[in-house]
Amino acid sequence: MAKGLDVGTMNILSARQEGTETVFVQQRNSFVEIEYSDMAEQMLSRSDVLHIRKDDKVYVVGDDALNFANIFNKETRRPMQAGILSSDEQSAIPMMKLIIEQVVGEPQYPGERLYFSSPADPIDTDLSTLYHQKTIESFLNDVGYDAEPINEGMSVIYSELADNSFTGLGISFGAGMTNVCLAYYAVPVMKFSVARGGDWVDEQAAQATGTPVDKVTSIKEDGFELDFQTDVGGVEGALSIYYENLLEYVIKRIVNEVDEEDIEEGLDVPVVVTGGTASPNGFEKLFEDHLTDSSLPFSVSGVSHAEEPLYSVARGALVAARSDEEEPTEEQTASEAEPER
Ligand SMILES: Nc1ncnc2c1ncn2[C@@H]1O[C@H](COP(=O)(O)OP(=O)(O)OP(=O)(O)O)[C@@H](O)[C@H]1O
Ligand SMILES: [Mg+2]
Repeated sequence: MAKGLDVGTMNILSARQEGTETVFVQQRNSFVEIEYSDMAEQMLSRSDVLHIRKDDKVYVVGDDALNFANIFNKETRRPMQAGILSSDEQSAIPMMKLIIEQVVGEPQYPGERLYFSSPADPIDTDLSTLYHQKTIESFLNDVGYDAEPINEGMSVIYSELADNSFTGLGISFGAGMTNVCLAYYAVPVMKFSVARGGDWVDEQAAQATGTPVDKVTSIKEDGFELDFQTDVGGVEGALSIYYENLLEYVIKRIVNEVDEEDIEEGLDVPVVVTGGTASPNGFEKLFEDHLTDSSLPFSVSGVSHAEEPLYSVARGALVAARSDEEEPTEEQTASEAEPER
C-alpha cells in the first residue's frame, strides 16, 4: 500500500486506502509546555496523550495540547508558521517529528511509498521551503518510508480533478498559506504560494477589533458565514472584510503569475477551492464573483468547492503515491509476514 500526508501549519493528516474507504488520521500541529510535576506525570502516564519530557518540562503535543493549555492556563505554540517550520520556535523539530510519526504510523513494509505535501515557494516573502521540505523528508525516511514531496496545490488537483484529466486550477486556502497550482494533464504549469491564509485573517480581525486572536478563530470556525448580512463593527464584520481582502489578494497574484508564465490563451479550465479557510458558507460564491471580475487571461468553466476541505490535500497525496507505487518485493513481503521473535 501507499500513504499520503498533509503537513499543514494547523493540521497534520495522513490518508491510506482500506478496501474502498480512505482512512484519515489527524492531529493538530500544536504543543504546550507545562512544568513537570507528579500530577502531570500521573495524568500523562495513564493516558495515551502524546508528550515529550525534557528536563523539568513536559510538552503535550497534538490534539491534546489545547485541553492541557486550558487546564494549566498556558498558551499553545505552533511548530510551523506561514506554511513551513517556524524559525522562531526552537522546539519545533522534535514536536513535528512526534506528531508525524503518530499520524503516519509504521510503514507496512520497508520502503513503502509516501507522498507528503509541501508548499510552493511564497512569492510575497523571501522564505524558502527547502529546509522545511528536506527536514520532513528525513523524518519520514527515518521511520522507513520512501518519502517524496508533492506540491500542495498539485495534491488538490489529484484529489478533486481526476474527472477532468487532472487539468485545472487548484487552490488550497490553509492556515499559514494559500497554495495555487494550474495543471494541464497532471503536469503543473504554474505553481506558487502566498504567505497569507486563515491565520492572517484572524490576526487582522483581532487587531482591528481589539479581540484576542483565539477568540476570533473560534468565532470564525463556529458557524461564521460570508453572507455580508452582519453589521459592520463586530468580529464577524471584520472577518468578512479580511476574507474578501485575502481573496482579492490571491486573485491578483494569480493574474500576475499567469501573465508571467505565458499560459496558452483559449484555455478553459475548472477551478477548485479547498483548505480549512475555504469552509465558510458563501466562500465559493465570493471567490467566483471576484474571479469573474478579474482580468484572468483564460476562461474558467466553473468554480467548485471540495466536499471535505480539510481532507483534500492528504487525499491527493495518497492518489499520487498510489499511482507511483511499486509492488513490494518478495523479500519485503516476507519480512512483513515474519513473526516477531
Ligand atoms: N469551519 C471553518 N470555518 C472557517 N475557517 C476554518 C474552519 N475550519 C478550519 N478553519 C480554518 O482553516 C485553517 C486550517 O486549514 P487547513 O487545515 O487547510 O490549513 P493547514 O493545511 O494546516 O495550513 P497550511 O496549508 O497553510 O500550512 C485555519 O485557519 C482554521 O482556522
Ligand atoms: Mg494546507
